Amino acid sequence: MLSNRLQDAMNEQLKEELYSAYLYLSMAAYYDSINLDGFAHWMRAQAQEEVEHAMKFYEFIYDRGGRVALQAIDQPPIEFESPLAAFEQALEHEQKVTAMIHTLYAQAVEEKDYPSQSFLQWFVDEQVEEEKTASRIIEMLKLVGNHPPGLIMLDRELARR
Ligand code: FEO
Repeated sequence: MLSNRLQDAMNEQLKEELYSAYLYLSMAAYYDSINLDGFAHWMRAQAQEEVEHAMKFYEFIYDRGGRVALQAIDQPPIEFESPLAAFEQALEHEQKVTAMIHTLYAQAVEEKDYPSQSFLQWFVDEQVEEEKTASRIIEMLKLVGNHPPGLIMLDRELARR
């Protein structure tokens, strides 16, 4: 059975995953507003993945005899300075999520809660991927700079996700 402390922390993480979905959907809306359809498609897919992450916490909390308690989700930013700035914010957000997952994992270790450690290991690995992908796109955006043909090519690549 989950301890109350871990249950509360997982409910907090569930909310953060839903906020991630909300943030990426807001970024999708921004990219759609400037006609970068590929970027918008990538962000919409990312938002869907985040809902799946939230549902993994939802199911795990019940698998371990806990209670899901949904919390208020903050409003995400609506405007972004540039295509690059939005991705930089996405990476910054993922780094925050990684730190939260690591804190959760440390709590599970402290409580000798082995099922939670096993469950959280998937998220530890996922965060490595999430940060790597966002960093790679940021590097490409920096290479492209203010060169519209490069931006259009990158947009086409992201549309393939
Ligand atoms: Fe669910 Fe992007 O972390």
